[in-house]
Amino acid sequence: MIGIFDSGIGGLTVVRALMEHLPGYDIIYFGDTARTPYGSKSPKTVIGYSLENTDFLFKKGAKIVITACNTASSVAMESMTERFDMPIFEVITPAVECSIKTSKKLRVGVIGTRATINSGIYEKKIHRMNSKVKVYSVACPLLVPLVEEGWFKKPETTMIVKKYLHPLKTRQIDTLILGCTHYPHLKNIIQKKIGKGVNIIDSSVAVAGKVKDFFKKHPEVCNQISKKGEYRFFVSDITEQLEKTAKALLKKNVLLEEVKI
Ligand code: DGL
Repeated sequence: MIGIFDSGIGGLTVVRALMEHLPGYDIIYFGDTARTPYGSKSPKTVIGYSLENTDFLFKKGAKIVITACNTASSVAMESMTERFDMPIFEVITPAVECSIKTSKKLRVGVIGTRATINSGIYEKKIHRMNSKVKVYSVACPLLVPLVEEGWFKKPETTMIVKKYLHPLKTRQIDTLILGCTHYPHLKNIIQKKIGKGVNIIDSSVAVAGKVKDFFKKHPEVCNQISKKGEYRFFVSDITEQLEKTAKALLKKNVLLEEVKI
């Protein structure tokens, strides 16, 4: 199984990308809906949660784990790779690599939660690969609750997106990284507001490509992963709204199972 975790159900964007790019691979998902949001918590707390989530997925039989949450990827990767001797993926590096390939003007925008933007991880990683790239980051804390509420097409959402993107528009970026699991669900509005000429990098698609490459290079890991096309979705708290949103995000019926970890 491929294990995936997120602070909530936003990480279903990564599940969707994997279903498309690696069809048939069994997936076990954990959404920490009881403790979400991670984006407004301290790094210490997010690290503790991430270690518990990863441990749960490996104990359930995952052979690799994808940290679908950008916030956890920003602050907890070092602790996770120190603790577990198994392949663990994060969503930041693949998006950074794509942005460097894509940006002709070397002007890249990043949007994410406060914790992700405050960590400065995107700037650090981009500059490690190319110090000439100008990086402009904006925290967009209101977007996660809008997606969780299923407000994908409301005029209020459009207005808020426009306000957040304004500083990036004035910087004339040509590439925009969606540095949060939830944002791919607002991709159309974001594209409209940032302008057609800006390439949008969706980290869920980028990480799926990374895992696919890894499997090609490491058939010994790939062969251990069951491929019966089975999907299990665990969450730490179930509500009716959550079930509705999960269904809307994956565009299919999703059976959520509650687990206390
Ligand atoms: N999953 C988080 C991320 O990608 C967003 C939601 C949260 O704040 O927990 O950053």
